[in-house]
Amino acid sequence: MADSQKYTAEEKARHAARVKEREARKKERQKQKKALTKQASIAPQATNGGHKTYDASLLKRARNVGGPPYEAFLKYLPHDCTEQQVTQFFAGCGSLEKAPRILKDRATGRVIRGFVTFAEEQGLQNALQKDGHKLGGRNISVTIATTHGTCQQEGTHTPAMASEVVDVLGARHSNGVFVDGTFGRGGHSREILKALGPSGRLHGFDVDEDAIRAGKQLEKQDSRFTIHRAPFSQMLKHLGDKVQGVLLDVGISSPQLDGGRGFRPEVEGPVDMRFDASEQSETALQYLVRVSRQELAAALEAFGGERPAHARRIADAVALAKAEDPSLSSMTTSKLAQLASAAKGHREYQQMHPAKMTFQALRVAVNREFAELRDGLEAATEACGLNGAVAVLTWKHAECAVVVDFQATHSLAEKDSMLLKYSSGVSDSWGVVVDQARRPTDAELRRNSRARSAVLHVHRKSRGTRLSDLEAKAGAVLNWAPHHIPVPAEQRAGCDRWGAGAGKKKKKRDETPEERKARKKAKKARRKE
Ligand SMILES: C[S@@+](CC[C@H](N)C(=O)[O-])C[C@H]1O[C@@H](n2cnc3c(N)ncnc32)[C@H](O)[C@@H]1O
Repeated sequence: MADSQKYTAEEKARHAARVKEREARKKERQKQKKALTKQASIAPQATNGGHKTYDASLLKRARNVGGPPYEAFLKYLPHDCTEQQVTQFFAGCGSLEKAPRILKDRATGRVIRGFVTFAEEQGLQNALQKDGHKLGGRNISVTIATTHGTCQQEGTHTPAMASEVVDVLGARHSNGVFVDGTFGRGGHSREILKALGPSGRLHGFDVDEDAIRAGKQLEKQDSRFTIHRAPFSQMLKHLGDKVQGVLLDVGISSPQLDGGRGFRPEVEGPVDMRFDASEQSETALQYLVRVSRQELAAALEAFGGERPAHARRIADAVALAKAEDPSLSSMTTSKLAQLASAAKGHREYQQMHPAKMTFQALRVAVNREFAELRDGLEAATEACGLNGAVAVLTWKHAECAVVVDFQATHSLAEKDSMLLKYSSGVSDSWGVVVDQARRPTDAELRRNSRARSAVLHVHRKSRGTRLSDLEAKAGAVLNWAPHHIPVPAEQRAGCDRWGAGAGKKKKKRDETPEERKARKKAKKARRKE
């Protein structure tokens, strides 16, 4: 059959339209490519059968330069490279805004990376063309720096995703009541107050003495603001009416981190790590002295994300140190950092300090951060009126897991849920509707590299049938046995000590075969010890 007979007139017209559209897209792409090449002063690299070819990576980089700072990231530098050498290498590219920065490996003292900042975009574009060129005998890599360090003065804290937080809470021009459950240095509070209407109100909570001092200052400056010295899990005791939105920016603030209170392995100080240092609570050192090898290993894994083998070795190293000095009386941050790094074994070219996760785990443990977050989510949602929003900024995976778990167990059934057929006899209650989680924009990351791991979770309080209630009802009707999904380590470690399951021993008949095996193995090991 001839082609003209195979297709109907309508199909032929559709095909012609598609071809035309494809041609138009191709032309548009070529036009864009030409414009970019001109803008980036990138010459065609070669010709190929009459078609000009371009170095795709250069074009990509030309597209992504964005605004200032015009900073290049250097890799594979010679191990003894100096700032002077780098300055000379980029001499023809354009003037530098400041002296190049050279980063060295902590343990070996060798140069590993560097940054060079140009005064103008053209300087950076020219520098990118030196990618792969030889410096001191090594082919170095030159790419656009994606983060440029945190632009903040010492003692201040740059709030992450501040504008998004204000929007999701619905604080713009609102005269409602809001809560900042983690005041810190008031970065988010100030943004919320800027956006609030004249009779809006904001309650701040924190447990840190310096944060409370900063909050008192803000109280004097803005009558719409009140600071409370209390953990956010206790907010209901301090609030009157229902509120419109709550923010929890969990974790640690920059001034706490940099302030010599034992939070950082790089800064010498006592192994304290309490947010509320005035409280008669346990310090990280006392925690290390008190807990067993096994408990410490579990905490390092669950709260710091250490690999199990590393967690065990660090816990063993602490136990050996305790065997020599049971009260660890001479332990300081640098000694603990050394002990943890040595136990893990040194690896070259590590970006972060090898003891960072150990310190993080100890901080989470002594401040009961995950248990606080669980209780805080409950309190914040309870404090909200209908349609009120709870925004949570998390900084690490285990915190994310706590928030996602809370949202999943409190979410309402959607209209098309298959479980709704089991809704008879299930009464409505408050629950949550979860928004899509958000990440910082590239523009924000260029200004504030510390925001790189932030995730903004949002849920809104609503009324309806909770999915978990329907699941329970369906399970009863269908006579389903409960699921035996092993509880993730981070949840279990939190629950065992402080959470909902605190003090409750898991019944043997509720164990999975794997759990039974693990329990027996642990028992055997204990006996041997
Ligand atoms: C990441 S900072 C918040 C920074 C703040 N958003 C800002 O822009 O300045 C976390 C703060 O929460 C505080 N914090 C930690 N756990 C808390 C809790 N359970 N209750 C109240 N505040 C807490 C810490 O002391 C710290 O000041």
